[in-house]
Amino acid sequence: MAKDTLSITDNRTGKSYELPVEHGTIRALDLRQIKTGPDDFGLMTYDPGLTNTASCKSTVTMVDGDNGILRYRGYPIEQLAERGTFLETAYLLVHGELPTQSELEEWQYNIVHHTFIHENVKKFMDGFRYDAHPMGVFVSTIAALSTFYREAKQIHDAECRKHQIHRLIAKAPTLAAFAYRHMSGMPYAYPDNDLSYTGNFLSMMFKTTEAKYEPNPALERALDVLFILHADHEQNCSTNAMRAVGSSAVDPYSAMAAAAAALYGPLHGGANEMVLTMLREIGSVKNIPAHIERVKNKEVRLMGFGHRVYKNYDPRAQIVKEVAETVFEVTGRNPLIDIALELERIALEDEYFLSHKLYPNVDFYSGIIYEAMKIPIPMYPVLFAIGRTPGWLAQWQESLEDPDLRIVRPRQIYLGEGERQYVPIDQR
Ligand code: ACO
Repeated sequence: MAKDTLSITDNRTGKSYELPVEHGTIRALDLRQIKTGPDDFGLMTYDPGLTNTASCKSTVTMVDGDNGILRYRGYPIEQLAERGTFLETAYLLVHGELPTQSELEEWQYNIVHHTFIHENVKKFMDGFRYDAHPMGVFVSTIAALSTFYREAKQIHDAECRKHQIHRLIAKAPTLAAFAYRHMSGMPYAYPDNDLSYTGNFLSMMFKTTEAKYEPNPALERALDVLFILHADHEQNCSTNAMRAVGSSAVDPYSAMAAAAAALYGPLHGGANEMVLTMLREIGSVKNIPAHIERVKNKEVRLMGFGHRVYKNYDPRAQIVKEVAETVFEVTGRNPLIDIALELERIALEDEYFLSHKLYPNVDFYSGIIYEAMKIPIPMYPVLFAIGRTPGWLAQWQESLEDPDLRIVRPRQIYLGEGERQYVPIDQR
């Protein structure tokens, strides 16, 4: 009869063990009993990059990478992107259910009424060099918020947590836009709480002398959809950072700064920036075959392609491609889209990409939209961070409520020197 267990025979000792299997996993600690003798520490798994390790149980987001499926709290990403708003999606991620009308109004009120930042934040923003990368500024200023809200350390108080969640979702666009204004030498534009979440962000980015900035509704909606698409993606690098740093019981501002720092890298949220740089370098459709050859020779990676989990088309990439067309109706066609489409067409027919299961990911097309909207390239990872904020917070909150939570502290395989004696410098 089938049993939910795994039998292991240790050929080093001839001993057999039976380990429980739950949710398709064994508990790594159950391996510790497998020893060659009393001095043996016990068996561990070796998993660099955590490619086959479930680090937590979660109910937030489901990704089925083989079939190209993404759901937040059970809702398909396609439906949320078509019919939902970003703040509604943020509520869903954080609370687990879609809000009723009154819950949504209260949530929006709470977010809108936390968009301002302390005036001192502006002062240290001014201290960054004139051309500081806005993602570096974003990471630093998110961390700095912990010095303003010291009660945020009470991470086990659900009410207190809720307050910090409102603040972080509300202030992320303000810090992001202020970082851009600093980089471009423009005066900071304060939040306009009459506008939508995304409309207010566009206002803080682009408002100049007009008394009231009026965002283009199509661009406002496009950005809202992009934020929805980026809102969560289960245990990716930055979410893992959020959970790992949060496991030390630090405040959410410090944990989210770590998550944002993880996002900054070109293999993660920095990829959208790299895609644009790559498309500009390619410059013309006629140069694509030569670029594909360089990728296949492993001289460069095709940025915006490939994913640890998706071994099929990333469903977000398809939606972003559609959003691009709605944006181009307002801004005019970004010529880089033709290079991107041709690159995708060739890559999807090429044996190298097919055999490696490399498909466009969410960031392959997002930068082209941002560029058409006149958002400068260094802001792309920052936009990703705004969108990902509710996901990080939902996952952080879930981790704190998890009875299995322990400080994240992996093991290592030590392969260094055995004990040796200190040698004075004149004798080395
Ligand atoms: N271009 C060319 N080859 C690639 C690419 C790519 N973009 N991605 C992976 N490969 C190849 C690797 O060379 C390797 O080939 P090999 O087996 O012949 O040696 C194989 O595919 C597996 O690659 P890994 O790096 O082991 O895959 P991993 O799952 O560790 O990496 C990652 C995933 C980091 C996303 C990778 O695909 C990549 O670097 N992509 C480009 C950067 C990018 O777009 N990142 C954004 C990811 S989405 C996001 O964070 C929102």
